[in-house]
Amino acid sequence: MGFKKGFLWGGGVSAGQCEGSFEGDGKGRAIREPENFHEPAVDFYHHYPEDIRLFQELGMKAFRTSIDWSRIYPDPWGEANQIGIDYYRDLFEKLNEAGITPIVTLSHGGDPYPLKQIGEWSSKETIDLFMKYVRTCYEKFGDLIPYWLTFNEVNCGPAVAGRGFGGEPPQPYDFVYNALHNRLVAGAKATVLLHEMYPESRMGNMLGYFAIYPKTCNPKDNIKCMQKTNVLHHICGEVQVYGEYPYFVKSFFKEHDVNLNITDEEREVLKKGTVDFVSISYYCSDVISHLEDRPIVSGNLVGGVDNEFLEKNGWGWHIDPEGFRWVLNDCYQRYKKPIAVVENGLGSFDTLEDGKVHDDYRIQFLKDNIGQMKVAVEDGVDVFAYCMWSPIDIVAASVKTVKKRYGVIYVDVDDEGNGTFNRYKKDSFDYYRHVIETNGEDL
Ligand code: BG6
Repeated sequence: MGFKKGFLWGGGVSAGQCEGSFEGDGKGRAIREPENFHEPAVDFYHHYPEDIRLFQELGMKAFRTSIDWSRIYPDPWGEANQIGIDYYRDLFEKLNEAGITPIVTLSHGGDPYPLKQIGEWSSKETIDLFMKYVRTCYEKFGDLIPYWLTFNEVNCGPAVAGRGFGGEPPQPYDFVYNALHNRLVAGAKATVLLHEMYPESRMGNMLGYFAIYPKTCNPKDNIKCMQKTNVLHHICGEVQVYGEYPYFVKSFFKEHDVNLNITDEEREVLKKGTVDFVSISYYCSDVISHLEDRPIVSGNLVGGVDNEFLEKNGWGWHIDPEGFRWVLNDCYQRYKKPIAVVENGLGSFDTLEDGKVHDDYRIQFLKDNIGQMKVAVEDGVDVFAYCMWSPIDIVAASVKTVKKRYGVIYVDVDDEGNGTFNRYKKDSFDYYRHVIETNGEDL
């Protein structure tokens, strides 16, 4: 038993990490962008027809990207930006014409900067402004998009904000979890609206999913591991799939002085707006110890204790394909929904020489991870899509550099925007094309 017929092999990016933002086309500054925000990234915004041709040559069946809210509504209270709408409309049309199914995230880092005036997601007004944007997206592009995702890695937000990230001070738990709650309500409303406007379309949530291991068999490590897993994955997962907060939030919120501002109407929306499928990202696993003094290694947003059984990538993230099998089984067992893997890949320094990139390390990563996904499918997990991160080089989110390259397509550009922006197929391009061609039979 292998991957099902029609399996959606693809690749994923986020708008903000690939498009670039140019003066003159009406895009506003997003919260994640610096003051002087006009940066080219890999200039997908001007190269997408060429890039789609390369995706087609790769055999991609699906392309996951996001719509940048700040490109559609530079001012969330104002008028929609027609140039932004035309751009996305054309992008999704061209993907469909190329036989590539768009999987589109409504929110992946593009929140408009002016939301800062009202405290971003801590304000209930942001839910209404988001719904205005969502309605525009459905009206303008809904006929072209069969799969939508609400918020990228919505579960990682609290971990990041609670710890302080990118120089920001840590936020109090009460603030963090109320802001998360508003996002969850907005996601449920977006799901209800999608089902009303396009009953055939499918909505997924998106969780950053980690295999988290106890450091030792000391029961204290195991309990700590359970608690971290519950809080990190399952507050969001349970709300989005089952429509209500899980049992353990009561004590967790009490311990951290969180007073959830939830209305009866919101409870009903959460119940009604549950997702049709679950989507996840998987990059690495973590280890947890009850001892405070263990050295912490880095990881995708949430780091953990060192795992001596695993190798690490150039940024210190554990490489753990078997953890991927565990994650898929764990997610399916808990949520019993079809799963789309929308991020999984290796960021590395690549060298372009004579138009070639010999990235055997990326081939190995894909081989091992897709191999373990195949084992999970054989275990009985219902996986229907795999979008590797990413088909083309992008700007890495955590370290804000294009030097951490993810693509099977190389883009000749550096962090200052110098370069030809020419695209080159890496060795991994041919490997992944073969995987797709054989529907994952020959890895
Ligand atoms: C995920 C994000 O957390 O990790 C992506 O959804 C991001 O946007 C990816 O690119 C890899 O992280 P990084 O920091 O290496 O880009």
